[in-house]
Amino acid sequence: MNRNPIIVALDFESPAEASALIARLGDRVSFYKVGMELYAAAGMAFARELRAQGKDVFLDMKFYDIPETVRRAVCQVARAGLQFLTVHGSDAVMRAAVEGRGAASLKLLAVTVLTSFDRQDIADLGYPSEVSDLVDLRVRKALAAGVEGIVASPLDAARIRRIAGPGAILVTPGVRSPGAAQADQKRVATPAEAIRDGADYVVMGRQITRAASPADEVDRVLEEIASA
Ligand code: C5P
Repeated sequence: MNRNPIIVALDFESPAEASALIARLGDRVSFYKVGMELYAAAGMAFARELRAQGKDVFLDMKFYDIPETVRRAVCQVARAGLQFLTVHGSDAVMRAAVEGRGAASLKLLAVTVLTSFDRQDIADLGYPSEVSDLVDLRVRKALAAGVEGIVASPLDAARIRRIAGPGAILVTPGVRSPGAAQADQKRVATPAEAIRDGADYVVMGRQITRAASPADEVDRVLEEIASA
């Protein structure tokens, strides 16, 4: 591992809280995820500010709309010079996103099936299949559409890596170090297991952001990964 694979999720209600955490982490972490909460509070202005500070930005908006709307919205994100953006793994959405990204360096990550969904949830949507079969189908479709990466449960990482091959970007939230509080995450793996199973990046929120010393927590997790 020659770079820090941790993306810290800035799940805060204000940009001031997010900035305070970033300051506490200093140079240890350079990649941050801005999700719906912080986006609703501080918008693209905050994402641009992070870029201006030299941070990498993963905008986790899980876009899903008619193709023209997705294309135009992705175009805006691409222009802001961000690194990663999530879109839902439906074929038309992904193709529109690829078009909207154009020649920009923004990488698109597909959300295949929300990890909160179980077999009954997808049956309710009219997909009479196993969740894993739908995930695998959507991984193949994402890569065929020109999407570069996948966001997935660490428990699916090894299988997805086999399907997607070495070139795809694999990002796994839902990770916890041994002994850390799981909170509302149900199907977790450790950061070291996720990386071993083929993840390029692990998204970590509360274990780091709510730690007494977030910087020490990052150091501990990096050691855990390195010694695994
Ligand atoms: O605090 P915690 O580490 O559980 O935060 C995980 C982050 O990853 C949150 O921002 C959450 O929205 C996001 N996420 C997730 N599970 C998914 C997809 C995204 O926890 N399947």
